[in-house]
Amino acid sequence: MIRTIAWQDDTVVMIDQRRLPQEERYLACTTHREVIAAINDLTIRGAPAIGIAAAMGVALGMLQAPVTSPSVFRETFDDLCSQFLRTRPTARNLFWAVERMKAYFSRIFPSDGPFDAPALRRSLVDEAKRILKEDIAINRRIGGFGAAFIQSGDAVLTHCNAGALATGGYGTALGVIRAAVEQGKEIHVFVDETRPVLQGARLTAWELVKERIPATLITDNMAGYLMSRGKIDKIVVGADRIAKNGDTANKIGTYSLAVLAQAHGIPFYVAAPTSTIDLETPEGAEIPIEERAPEEVTAWGGYRVAPEGIAVFNPAFDVTAGRYITAIITEAGVATAPYEKSIPAMAGQDKIKEGNEIYGQAAPV
Ligand code: MRU
Repeated sequence: MIRTIAWQDDTVVMIDQRRLPQEERYLACTTHREVIAAINDLTIRGAPAIGIAAAMGVALGMLQAPVTSPSVFRETFDDLCSQFLRTRPTARNLFWAVERMKAYFSRIFPSDGPFDAPALRRSLVDEAKRILKEDIAINRRIGGFGAAFIQSGDAVLTHCNAGALATGGYGTALGVIRAAVEQGKEIHVFVDETRPVLQGARLTAWELVKERIPATLITDNMAGYLMSRGKIDKIVVGADRIAKNGDTANKIGTYSLAVLAQAHGIPFYVAAPTSTIDLETPEGAEIPIEERAPEEVTAWGGYRVAPEGIAVFNPAFDVTAGRYITAIITEAGVATAPYEKSIPAMAGQDKIKEGNEIYGQAAPV
């Protein structure tokens, strides 16, 4: 299995995604600042993986926190959480993971509780490790639900990287593809290169080649042509944040694919854990969209491709309205329109049931 991130000898070890596919190099972060830098510079990326890195980063920071008094220990924890929350604003899983660490800290260190810094530190590390372990299990469940929508012979298009590298392991959109392949379905994957930083060409293509899943790389502007020629049967993508009404933020370019899919009658699926769902955000227009450095657009690999002086707009994500989404596949089941009803019902499931849960009308296959 591809190892994206791990807690090892009190460091946070992650595969350096900036160097893939040329080099499979692991980076060991020894301070929380290094983890923050790794999230910001895309050494680690993908909403669930960002959440796991943040949880581990907070735990790492607490290993080095001053223990002069309980209040200083608490303040350090709060400050660490705030630092991680300032990294990537669109990824809901980042906020979910930090909120989970906060809730856990309050439980293990109540205001009237004893101050046992070594035990508290170890408990925080254990909680961060649990988040990683659970994420892999969640992705396998997503894969199980999602594979039901994929038939043998399908050509499936995906965008960006919502694979093992974007999560604790296995992936969300790529988890659906992996699960379908594990069930013996013969499918072909089309991979959007995903400008500007090529998560498709570099990372999704790397995962699929490694797993020997038949795949073809295309540039982003080829997707519409393929759809018009009847070459795409299904589209599966991940998500960075899903609003209460089903509007979904994902890597820039997802929206264009969804509109094209509707024009060509192609089912468009979003695969994501429930930790990506943001019930506090009623609709997509309120999802914060991260803007990144202009150099991601004007240069590639340190080589400048655009003239000096040109203005650049570089939003990292766009929002696809729920009306373009055939179904949202999570570990708690599958939601279909009307999402205002199906998403809160699905996300509100605090214990996972067994079986093929469908919220809303059964999704067309
Ligand atoms: O900027 P990135 O590479 O972090 O963007 C990642 C995506 O848009 C993914 O599709 C999303 O986070 C889901 S990952 C399972």
